[in-house]
Amino acid sequence: MPEAVLRAEWVSVSFGGLRAVDGVALEVGPRELVGVIGPNGAGKTTFFHTLSGVLAPTAGRIWVAGADLTGRPAHVFAMHGVARTFQTPRVFRGMSAEDNVRFGLAFAGRRRRHPHDAFDDARSILGFLGLRSEAAVAAGALPPARQRLLEIGMALGARPQVLLLDEVAAGLTESEVQATAKLIARVRSELGLAVIWIEHAVRALLDCVERVVVLHQGRKIADGVPRAVARDPAVVEAYLGIEGEHT
Ligand SMILES: Nc1ncnc2c1ncn2[C@@H]1O[C@H](COP(=O)(O)OP(=O)(O)O)[C@@H](O)[C@H]1O
Ligand SMILES: [Mg+2]
Repeated sequence: MPEAVLRAEWVSVSFGGLRAVDGVALEVGPRELVGVIGPNGAGKTTFFHTLSGVLAPTAGRIWVAGADLTGRPAHVFAMHGVARTFQTPRVFRGMSAEDNVRFGLAFAGRRRRHPHDAFDDARSILGFLGLRSEAAVAAGALPPARQRLLEIGMALGARPQVLLLDEVAAGLTESEVQATAKLIARVRSELGLAVIWIEHAVRALLDCVERVVVLHQGRKIADGVPRAVARDPAVVEAYLGIEGEHT
């Protein structure tokens, strides 16, 4: 089996008395596309924070491509090939789309090499995303769905090996969600990245990924192929009563 690009060993995060993440283990291989779902407050975002160095785990270890980065800051994770988006969009609204991607390139991109041409410069990243004609448009003037794409572009600018996406389809229309799912599949198939995708829109995610992890009250309650996970009694139970939220 090839070396994992990302490995979390029994990661926990406590906020005072609350265990937001409780002993989660996850191993993601090269070019794997893994979905993460779970009810609100399940610990998904907090877990992502530990995988990207935004937050040090209270217990457990995080490995990136064979290096133990537990407790290291976010820029070290970026240098080792981890890039992410945030649940609350973080584009520079007054800057052009192209300059936003350039910022991503400057942040960690120059220090890393990536074999794929799509990572060469801001223009090729915008081209990959279908944003080339909006290169000169101020990020804040782009419609929400395009801003979400731009965030992904900023993350790609860091030339990652693994991309973490936190609810990039939130607030989008049904057809925009579908387009986002297609793009995420292309990030893996065309750029060869491993992708871990948190999404609230469970159905679109399950149609797109080959593996899905379910978090509930900080714990991992399922990890497997979508068809099996969707039928898992523990998963059905976790979603009971909030079914309508996710359709
Ligand atoms: N900085 C923080 N301080 C205290 N509690 C937090 C903090 N961040 C998250 N939490 C709590 O941790 C739990 C998990 O939150 P989060 O990871 O955002 O869940 P999800 O992304 O699955 O909705 C929630 O109960 C949330 O209120
Ligand atoms: Mg969240």
